[in-house]
Amino acid sequence: MDSFHPHDKNHFYRAAGTAILHYVYLEKYHQAALLSFTAPFPLSSHPHYSHYHHHCMKTIIEPFRIKSVEPIYFNTAEARQLILEKAFYNPFLIHSEDVLIDLLTDSGTSAMSSNQWAGIMQGDESYAGSPSFFRFEKAVKDITGLPLVIPTHQGRASEKILFSIMGGKGKYFVSNTLFDTTRANIEFSGAEGVDMICEEGRYPTVPAPFKGNMDTVALQKFIDEKGAEHIPLCILTVTNNSGGGQPVSMQNIREVHAICKAHAIPLFIDACRFAENAWFIKLREPGYADTPVPEIVRELFSYADGCTMSAKKDAFANIGGFLAMHNEQLAQQCRNLLVITEGFPTYGGLAGRDLEAIAIGLHEVMDEHYLQYRIRSIEYLTNKLIAAGVPVMQPAGGHAVYLDAKGFLPHIPVDQYPGQALVGALYVHGGIRGVEIGSLMFGKYDEQHQLVPAALELVRLAIPRRVYTQSHIDYVSEVIIEVFNKRNEIEGLTILEESPILRHFTVKLSPIKK
Ligand code: F0G
Repeated sequence: MDSFHPHDKNHFYRAAGTAILHYVYLEKYHQAALLSFTAPFPLSSHPHYSHYHHHCMKTIIEPFRIKSVEPIYFNTAEARQLILEKAFYNPFLIHSEDVLIDLLTDSGTSAMSSNQWAGIMQGDESYAGSPSFFRFEKAVKDITGLPLVIPTHQGRASEKILFSIMGGKGKYFVSNTLFDTTRANIEFSGAEGVDMICEEGRYPTVPAPFKGNMDTVALQKFIDEKGAEHIPLCILTVTNNSGGGQPVSMQNIREVHAICKAHAIPLFIDACRFAENAWFIKLREPGYADTPVPEIVRELFSYADGCTMSAKKDAFANIGGFLAMHNEQLAQQCRNLLVITEGFPTYGGLAGRDLEAIAIGLHEVMDEHYLQYRIRSIEYLTNKLIAAGVPVMQPAGGHAVYLDAKGFLPHIPVDQYPGQALVGALYVHGGIRGVEIGSLMFGKYDEQHQLVPAALELVRLAIPRRVYTQSHIDYVSEVIIEVFNKRNEIEGLTILEESPILRHFTVKLSPIKK
């Protein structure tokens, strides 16, 4: 593998083995991956869109109209330069009113529907046994098939509870890729998190349809080496947020399930973006083109023993999350912790109105017009950048565009945090706030305090759900392309101050002047 060059497609074919067929499939898919929201030919002529034959025009439109608007704030590049300096080059320290287009996260930033707002007025705030809880519980059960449902205030609260029970020194949690809070909660318990992303997932600019897949060979090998008794849980993150928002195929979920089952290792889904993942399965995985999304979702969860969920993503809620599972004993242990940290089991850390918003959002997100628009709008931005030669993760992910900072800024070494430098440049130039997903977020130090870099240096531009329109997205691509054209002016960064856990939230940096 030493001579592997990610841009050499033929070599990639040999290396990736079975990915070849998929790749050919994807090339076809890309022909339908249109360079604007407007299709160059009727979508209905493409096999993967034949499903929409009766109701799809050439232009994929936002499947909503806008009832309520919020202002965005305009300022100048000079002002933003000062703001960035005052924020020590850390986007988390910038006030949101100083941001023009906020792509820091797709979490909790969704526009709720009129239905969800109506549900909020129906919220019953009883401490115990609220009807809002039972509506919430029913929605989660209906969608996932998992019978025991525990509300939490957000995803990481679910993680904290789960890993407090299952974690501990000498244990390994295996995953396609753990998200940062998931990894932090695992490590905080004393256990280790081990990512096993498939070969295709390691090369940002080489497209493949399911780059979020777990490497099942590595999984089997790891189990053989360490012993199943030291592996309390396998976690599949769908879609794989830290690895480019890339989906996991049903086939892979099935295979991971089989391996886990053979060794009695429970499988949990980190389900934040379950509907986006299901849409990719429908679009790209043979045999699913005509399967309704709720059925795909049901099948996906049918292989799981449980899930953690942040309802701030694919439930369009501004706050909320849950744990769901089959195992009664584990659920009871979780509830015992829940009462200490989150609240009584029929509200978790949430208000009754939040439970209503989540229950409604979970169903809304599976609407196929919504998912088509959602995935298409990310691809639209990605393809505009590809056309301009900007190095981006390919193919487009489900919730974000990921710039490949190593390719974008080859003159900045990884220990000068090229991703973070690019985040700063996008903010100053166009008021766009993104986030580094690279060595600042995931880097570690060795014994000599030398940086052990992350596998990838990415900048994530996460698109909030139902919030920005096509002209906002056009503006974003314009800014990125302008920054790309003067990329040589961008300087690396050095860390002034950092905390031992999740340092990217609070880190202070300054530029390294040439
Ligand atoms: N798992 C994944 C895959 C996530 O993306 C997140 C959050 C969490 C768990 C934790 O959920 O925020 O509700 O506690 N991701 C956000 C992001 C923060 O910006 O990607 P949470």
